[in-house]
Formats: sequence, C-alpha cells, structure tokens
Amino acid sequence: MDMHAIEFANVSLCVGGDTLLRKVDGRVPKGRIVALIGPSGSGKSTLLSLCNLMRTPTSGEVFVEGREVRTWPVRKLRQKVAMVFQSPTMFPGTVADNLSFGLHLHGLSLSNPAGLLEDVGLNSSLLDKRAEDLSGGQKQRVALGRTLAMQPDILLLDEVTSALDVHAKLEVERTILSLHESRGTSMLWVTHDLAQARRIADIIFFMDAGELVEVRDDAAAFFEQPQSAPAQRFLATMREGDGVE
Ligand SMILES: Nc1ncnc2c1ncn2[C@@H]1O[C@H](COP(=O)(O)OP(=O)(O)O)[C@@H](O)[C@H]1O
Ligand SMILES: [Mg+2]
Repeated sequence: MDMHAIEFANVSLCVGGDTLLRKVDGRVPKGRIVALIGPSGSGKSTLLSLCNLMRTPTSGEVFVEGREVRTWPVRKLRQKVAMVFQSPTMFPGTVADNLSFGLHLHGLSLSNPAGLLEDVGLNSSLLDKRAEDLSGGQKQRVALGRTLAMQPDILLLDEVTSALDVHAKLEVERTILSLHESRGTSMLWVTHDLAQARRIADIIFFMDAGELVEVRDDAAAFFEQPQSAPAQRFLATMREGDGVE
C-alpha cells in the first residue's frame, strides 16, 4: 500500500498563455491533514481541482494512493476523493434528500441518515426540514454529511469555513477534525485563516504564484520561522491585518 493519499510529481498547468501551476512537487501522507495556504490567486483551488480530475495537468503527474489520476475510473476516483466548497449548494427538498443526493446518483440509498446527521453535529430532528431554511453553518454541515455519505478516504476542503461567522466556523472545524479522528480521512484543506491553519495542520503547504514554495511538517515552526521570502512576506502582510491570533 502506498503511504501517500495524494502525490504531485512535477505538475504544471498552463491555460492560454498563463502558467497557473509550475512544477509542483508535494505529498499528502495517508491519514494526515495538510493545510494549503497562500495569497489569493496563487493556485490553491487549481491544485485541488487536479486531484479528482476536474482538471488535468499540462505536464507532470498526480497520484492518488499510488495510481495516476488519469488511470482511475472517474466515478471511483470521485467517490474516493471528495470535494467540499466554500458555499454549499443545497438542492431543493429536505435535509434527508440532500444527504442521500450523491448516493442516489450512484443508484444507492442511505442506510442511516439520522446517524450521518449526528456525525456532522446536527440533530436528527432536522432530517425533514427544508434544506434551504437552514443556517449557513448547518448547510455546510449538511454538505459535509452529503460528502461523507460517499465514504471518501480523501477530502479536499476549499475554504469551507470562510463564509461562516466565528461560532459556526469553529463548530464546523471541530466537526471536520473529529471526523478525521474517527475515520482517519486524509485531508488537503485550503484555508485563508492562518489561525485555523495552525490549529488543524499536520503539514503546511505554502503556495505563491503557482508554485509550491514551502512544505513544512511542523506547522508551528512554519509560522514562527518561514523559510522562503514569499512566505515571510505573506505572513508579515497577514499579521498587519488580523489573520493570525
Ligand atoms: N480557466 C482559467 N483560465 C485562466 N486563468 C485561470 C483559470 N482559472 C483560474 N485562473 C487563474 O489562476 C490563478 C489561480 O487561481 P486559483 O487556483 O483560483 O487561486 P486561489 O485558489 O489560490 O485563490 C488565478 O490567477 C486565476 O485568475
Ligand atoms: Mg481558491
């Protein structure tokens, strides 16, 4: 068994005349959380999109559990590697309908919707409520539950708490961490919240202008002593704002 959930091997992506990603090399070890940080527009979301074949690289390779993504059957890959976005889309219907949405697409049904809802920290009395009526934090948990129903081994999280208020943010963050602990899910988690990155990360990936310029397996050390000039500049700028506690 390969010990890496995801591996980027010399990955570049060019679109039109633009180089969105340049020679990215990095690994997400199985069962670990990698926080992917960097300035807006540095290529974080683009990098995630390579992991489940939403996009393919111009050169280089992306491996999921040791197998190049383009050799995976796409449905199987997307069951294994699931994505959660910043603004969850609720489909018309109840919370229960929303939880089973992905499984229905695969011709399956959800065996224990109440249990799943509780796994994401919501009371099962919400099952019959209209999904559109939920709060932002509740919607994000339903989106998480809908994704977890597929039993992915790897989660790609793209700024999943940035549309939430502080309270909901911490609740959703705790929910994700407890799922990580109970299921051992590997995670590549994009966040622009540096205090959050500090709390959740085993490993830091720092991107700048399409390059993965710093990979650190000691998150606290990264924040205390960033090694690359772009990371030093980025942390200094963020400290001037209030990105770091
Ligand atoms: N389809 C596309 N064609 C051209 N440029 C794109 C396309 N998609 C994204 N970009 C550009 O790629 C860069 C990286 O975008 P993105 O991955 O969304 O950054 P981040 O998530 O770090 O904010 C940005 O400059 C963005 O404008
Ligand atoms: Mg992004």
